[in-house]
Amino acid sequence: MNPWNLVLGVGILLIVTLVWFVFYYWFNPHVDEPDGGARVVGNCGDVMEIRLKFEAERVVQGSPWTNGCAHSFNCVWAAVDLARGKTAEEILDIDAAMIRRAVGELPRDHWHCASLAAETLHAAIDNYMQAGRTTTSDSN
Ligand code: FES
Repeated sequence: MNPWNLVLGVGILLIVTLVWFVFYYWFNPHVDEPDGGARVVGNCGDVMEIRLKFEAERVVQGSPWTNGCAHSFNCVWAAVDLARGKTAEEILDIDAAMIRRAVGELPRDHWHCASLAAETLHAAIDNYMQAGRTTTSDSN
């Protein structure tokens, strides 16, 4: 047996494993066992997903995901960045305008990407609150 065939086989196996790993993490959010999460489909057909992990009622970890365009990607990442360190109540104040400002230049015809990111973030908070993991001042 030619030893180069073995090297080639191992190399191909490593490349396939690396590609699988990249795609797995690209298509699956990284927060395991989130305290709150949501997957929302926008009117454009794009999907966004946000998973949040809380400690002491504040977001300590978040994972955004979308199958949408670069603007969608930037908006959902910005939404999670804005949520970090905040309570559920504070996160409910994050709106599409805040996300647009965080992203910077967002073409007018893609403002709906920021709206979908805000909607997904709020749905994740709803999910967190419905699980009874927090209380708001309104419910006290
Ligand atoms: Fe669909 Fe941005 S193009 S959410």
